[in-house]
Amino acid sequence: MSHPTSRRWLALGAFALIATTAFGAVRASNATSESLAASPSTAPVVLAVADAETQSSAAVAQSFSAPAETAPALSGDEARRHVTALSDTIGSRVAGTDNQRRAADYLAEQFRALGYATTLQPFTITSYDDRGSMLELGGAGGQAIAATTLQSSTGGAIDAELVDGGLGRPGELASAGVAGKIVLVERGELRFSEKVANAERAGAVGIVVYNNQPGPFTGNLTAPSAIPAIGIAQADGRALSDRLGPESIAARVGVNASTESRTAQNVIASRPGGPQTVVFGGHFDSVEAGPGANDNASGTAVVLELARVMAARPTPFTLTFAAFDAEEIGLLGSAHMVGQLSPDEVRSMRAMINLDMVGVGDAARVGGDAALATIAKRVSADLGQQAGSLGEVGGGSDHASFTRVGVPALFIHRTNDPNYHSPNDRSKYVTADNLQFAGQLALGVHDALAAGR
Ligand code: BES
Ligand code: ZN
Repeated sequence: MSHPTSRRWLALGAFALIATTAFGAVRASNATSESLAASPSTAPVVLAVADAETQSSAAVAQSFSAPAETAPALSGDEARRHVTALSDTIGSRVAGTDNQRRAADYLAEQFRALGYATTLQPFTITSYDDRGSMLELGGAGGQAIAATTLQSSTGGAIDAELVDGGLGRPGELASAGVAGKIVLVERGELRFSEKVANAERAGAVGIVVYNNQPGPFTGNLTAPSAIPAIGIAQADGRALSDRLGPESIAARVGVNASTESRTAQNVIASRPGGPQTVVFGGHFDSVEAGPGANDNASGTAVVLELARVMAARPTPFTLTFAAFDAEEIGLLGSAHMVGQLSPDEVRSMRAMINLDMVGVGDAARVGGDAALATIAKRVSADLGQQAGSLGEVGGGSDHASFTRVGVPALFIHRTNDPNYHSPNDRSKYVTADNLQFAGQLALGVHDALAAGR
């Protein structure tokens, strides 16, 4: 992406400040300067650049005036409409899926309708597609036992004798003689990945992990396995373990899953302005389990609402509004955006404000960059809510991608959503008041930075 750090954009920043104009007018001057750049009438623009360059940043900050009369007020209800569009109408938005693309299109449409230069920024992700697993006894077509895939297991079906391998420790596997067999192990003590690695090293051709608590379970491997790896319920595992020894059991383990390359995309809208950039961002992808109303249609919706309000407000900054994809699979969208920035663009970033899970819960919390968090707490108190502190946040959400490259980043969220990552993360729990507060907090931090406070 290209950020307006050039002299020409600096000139536009000056124009914007002088005119304290609405965004529409800024865009008009943008078009004018583009066309003037190659013509003899470039002179006024060059003069404006000189003016802007001789202004100290304090002077720039001082010339930032109060919101124009015409600027609309931030509306929690407006933001809530975006939450329902994203979570009720579209639903779960897993990176790389059709729903995620629908959401990206929706967001791009909204930003464009507000007048922002908007791009979809694609990047490749690998996602694990789990289409189900099976365990059959007595060979193919025998008794079926309900099974779940250990996520990242290789795909494929294997027929072999089942043997009991205890907890899957190397000694147990060696004495059980698992080479060429499917090994049954109990969950516990070792990580799933360690059990799988031990089984592979001992020559097993498949692995079945049974739960150490009642019922079935879902597990994740930290690395792809070389052999099919599944999980079954405790009762099924115990019954099998009891039968093994006296009995020899033929089994088939099947995993219908594969790793696929997919395209994810960030949605990035920008408004040219001064030499420093403020980024408002939030992820719009969700987990598969639910519609992600609070996590994170809420933050995305507030970013959209900030874009609506800021379109008609004066600012000394270049503004970027970013909706990140693929946060839920490792902050990939924000990492990609940051990776595309030039060193100059990174240096020009005055602040990144990340909104993630801002629609549900009793208390607002801020974290990340200490100086920004201090400003945010003051703003929050002025708004009548005391924001709690999260301290330095390492991972967790997209601000971390910016922190990693040295951009001061603020994390805004609310505590204790009981429906986090669940099917019940629904719009009915997201309140307009909470959205409104998060938006005003972000706006207040912007204003404080603009005024040099
Ligand atoms: N929205 C959450 C992070 C979060 C949790 C924000 C609680 C506010 C309160 C985010 O989508 C998430 O689930 N992050 C993961 C880590 C990520 C790298 C996959 C997490 O926190 O476990
Ligand atoms: Zn989230």
